[in-house]
Amino acid sequence: MRKREQWGSHWGFILATIGSAMGLGNIWRFPTVVGESGGGAFLLIYLLIVFIIGIPLMIGELSIGRGAKRSVVGAFRRLSPSGRWGFIGFFGVTAGFVILSFYAVIAGWALAYIVKSFSGQLTGLDVIQTTALFQSLVEHPFYPLLWHGGFMLMTLLIVRMGINKGIELGSKVLMPLLFVLMLILAVRSVTLDGAGAGIRWYLWPDFRALSLNVILSALGQVFFSLSLGMGAIITYGSYLSDQENVPKSATIIAFGDVGIAFIAGLIIIPSVFAFGIEPDTGPSLIFITLPLVFQTMPWGSLMGGLFFLLLVIAALTSAISLLEVVVAYFMDELGWSRPFAATLTAVIIALLGVPSSLSQGVWKDFLVLGLPLLDLFDFIASSFILPLGGLLTAVFIGWVWTPKRCLKEINKAGVNFRLSSFWSIIVKFVLPVVLSYILVTGFFFS
Ligand code: TRP
Repeated sequence: MRKREQWGSHWGFILATIGSAMGLGNIWRFPTVVGESGGGAFLLIYLLIVFIIGIPLMIGELSIGRGAKRSVVGAFRRLSPSGRWGFIGFFGVTAGFVILSFYAVIAGWALAYIVKSFSGQLTGLDVIQTTALFQSLVEHPFYPLLWHGGFMLMTLLIVRMGINKGIELGSKVLMPLLFVLMLILAVRSVTLDGAGAGIRWYLWPDFRALSLNVILSALGQVFFSLSLGMGAIITYGSYLSDQENVPKSATIIAFGDVGIAFIAGLIIIPSVFAFGIEPDTGPSLIFITLPLVFQTMPWGSLMGGLFFLLLVIAALTSAISLLEVVVAYFMDELGWSRPFAATLTAVIIALLGVPSSLSQGVWKDFLVLGLPLLDLFDFIASSFILPLGGLLTAVFIGWVWTPKRCLKEINKAGVNFRLSSFWSIIVKFVLPVVLSYILVTGFFFS
């Protein structure tokens, strides 16, 4: 009886964390970044970073959370002897504000596409028309803001009521369904006429495409996709039972997340080539490409509508974890009540998203560092704030909390973490050196 219960909670935790990790980052952002970064070489660097940086850091974040049983700021403060390391949590809170603000804009587009697809507006279009349809949505001064606000409202209601459990239950059924739908789409996409060139471009590394920018993008993508560097995983770890095998869980979560991103790439990239779209189109890529794929399938409108519906739900489970970090901070630090903290921060984040939304339409000529505001916020948060949070977390584990104490936490219930000395070296030396190097060179030379 007891054993069964533990198994149940084990998978509940894994699925909830995959729910946070899996979202627009896998299905919207990954294909977009692969397209912008030259295909196969990016994929290889991305996988390398998942293993060398992503999984070790996830093990660290889960252990910090479980060891401290606190949300992000309190966790660092509690585990540091001087109590002075709470400031790391500040980066997490900042990242939460920035990321959710543009995340909700894109989720809003997906929300609009549910309606467009079910109502048959996506049928009978060619590339020029799907591009025009997307443009007419984002260039409208009002509608995208409405969808964006709608998505923020849903996120707020869930976080306010604290009904994460219901969402988890839902995602146990719905996320596997999304997975099956994605597999079907991938099969359709790779068998399109002209898909071969895309498959080759996606899987065959061409190292001439490699540059510092590509490495920085891959790093940002790993942090974004695995929800690392801002304390979301620390918060989830704080609910973790002592029996749980942390390294094993981190590995399962990372493989699940990467697997889903890989399949998303297998859907988008071959069809991009088959329909003659530029791979480096940017944030609009999946919205232009997917309707074309659905049209080549039986029940295309239905399939499309269902796909965007599940995508919004996946985005919602991620958005909840982003808002939750921010809300928990204000509750813990300033003693605000949950409804007040959730409402106020959600309103601020929704307003912060307005310039991102307008930057794709009315304000599209206003560029900073050559980027529209939405792309800029995404770039700064993913490529700088999250890796910086990750760097500080690694330094914290390696030199303040110490790997010895962290390993004691990991091995608490007789777990035998065989790679523990390897992991200690990674956290103590490899992560701080590699992350500072990429951050510093990326900052000055990108
Ligand atoms: N990982 C999510 C995605 O892929 C987004 C996300 C949720 C996130 N929580 C996060 C990103 C914390 C960075 C940090 O869509």
